Amino acid sequence: MALPGAEFVVVANRLPVDLERLPDGSQRWKRSPGGLVTALEPMLRSRDGAWVGWPGTPDVDVEPLVEDGLQLHPVRLSATEVEEYYEGFSNGTLWPLYHDVVAPPVFHRHWWQAYVRVNQRFAMATAEVAAPGATIWVQDYQLQLLPAALRSLRPDLRIGFFLHIPFPPTELFMQLPWRREIVDGLLGADLVGFHTPGGARNFRWLATNLAKARPGRSRDEITVDDRPVRFGAFPISIDSAALDQLARSEAVQQRAAQIRADLGEPKKVILGVDRLDYTKGIDVRLLAFHELLAEGRVSAEDAVMIQLATPSRERVEHYQRMRDDIELAVGRINGEFARVGHPAVHYLHQSLPREELAAFFVAADVMLVTPLRDGMNLVAKEYVACRSNISGALVLSEFAGAAAELTQAFLVNPHDADGVKNALYAALTAPVAEQRRRMRALRRQVLTHDVDRWARSFLSALGMPEIPAAEAGK
Ligand code: ADP
Ligand code: F6P
Repeated sequence: MALPGAEFVVVANRLPVDLERLPDGSQRWKRSPGGLVTALEPMLRSRDGAWVGWPGTPDVDVEPLVEDGLQLHPVRLSATEVEEYYEGFSNGTLWPLYHDVVAPPVFHRHWWQAYVRVNQRFAMATAEVAAPGATIWVQDYQLQLLPAALRSLRPDLRIGFFLHIPFPPTELFMQLPWRREIVDGLLGADLVGFHTPGGARNFRWLATNLAKARPGRSRDEITVDDRPVRFGAFPISIDSAALDQLARSEAVQQRAAQIRADLGEPKKVILGVDRLDYTKGIDVRLLAFHELLAEGRVSAEDAVMIQLATPSRERVEHYQRMRDDIELAVGRINGEFARVGHPAVHYLHQSLPREELAAFFVAADVMLVTPLRDGMNLVAKEYVACRSNISGALVLSEFAGAAAELTQAFLVNPHDADGVKNALYAALTAPVAEQRRRMRALRRQVLTHDVDRWARSFLSALGMPEIPAAEAGK
């Protein structure tokens, strides 16, 4: 099907929906995992945009389609490309390198070559879809070469790039054998966005010291071949009002009460919600809970922990090893502290529907978000958006981008085991007045800084013409 040229195009590694092959040979679309889709989908639906991305299954040719008003343009990846570009260079090299090398990055030349090839293919697909002078918004670390590749094909386009994960300290970035190529790729954009000012500063240093950028007219601009490239911090968020409303609904409130009843009405419910990723510090929080139980400061009669973990990147070795470690830790805690019918830790390796997830957020007294490093972490904001009764406590890692905004959380250094343990204990025992004071401040931040505000601030810095309010709100 040929679709009309689009004025506004998002390009991301994945489409917002994944094509799933069922055992009986049939196929169905399901929501893609991760924070990028959570943030961008509502924003793009309200703007009648197009989305270019991989449909999540190798070796399938899918025609462009319109889904709920959104044009989807699938890009085909072969099984080898998934292995080398996605699992390899994106998630075996860049992901650990950009997350403080919490796992050692692996540098393979054939992974890099696949990354170059696939970025070029995405550039060609985008060039075909975009109307003359269109605005293109490229997303995340899988597509860092795309801005320059696209500019050379279509110099008429306005190109923005946003990185959803941390941009690393320059000393770490310099390990990358293809560091100059990555920086040159990003410099093809008119605007490069990061979650934090630190990321933006690292980029500026690399652009001026490693590539041929020169200082620009202001502190948030550099010049490349007489073309201005702007950069800055744009902390991403969620559709806070929609989630707040969903969490207040009768159905979600009832389901939350049912979850607590199913757990045996414990005094405290502790929750973790993550993609099953080694950067998320799931082991850190399990250790803290284990030690509090072992020391008798918390009793398994009173407090129950739930860990919801979306399966993620299951063919990448670090992920396989980490899954085994976490499941071993859960088994150990339950072995020591569970009673028949009353596990101390409930662990679900599943992806849940939005309503169900909202019910867990409503049911939880303490939310544990303990990544060793995280670009933003939307889960922390989702928990806050679901606490309309102004109760509950958020324990949040200092190394999540969200910590810069959610300063009234119980902030912890996830490398400090005693610190995490004490913060969990403090959150479990915080007086109601303190919980309310903290949660009120957190909600003020999350409800006023939503994903639409983020998108507007990025797109207006990019110079995209404003969409009239009536259109944008539909
Ligand atoms: P990342 O982008 O690294 O996955 P974020 O915290 O920014 O991390 O975003 C994760 C998104 O995935 C959130 O919207 C969260 O609600 C969702 N999510 C995480 N775990 C689950 C789960 N088990 N079921 C459904 N959604 C989940
Ligand atoms: O920003 C984090 C991110 O890597 C997104 O790019 C991605 O959509 C999400 O997490 C989920 O990861 P994956 O697409 O590898 O399953």
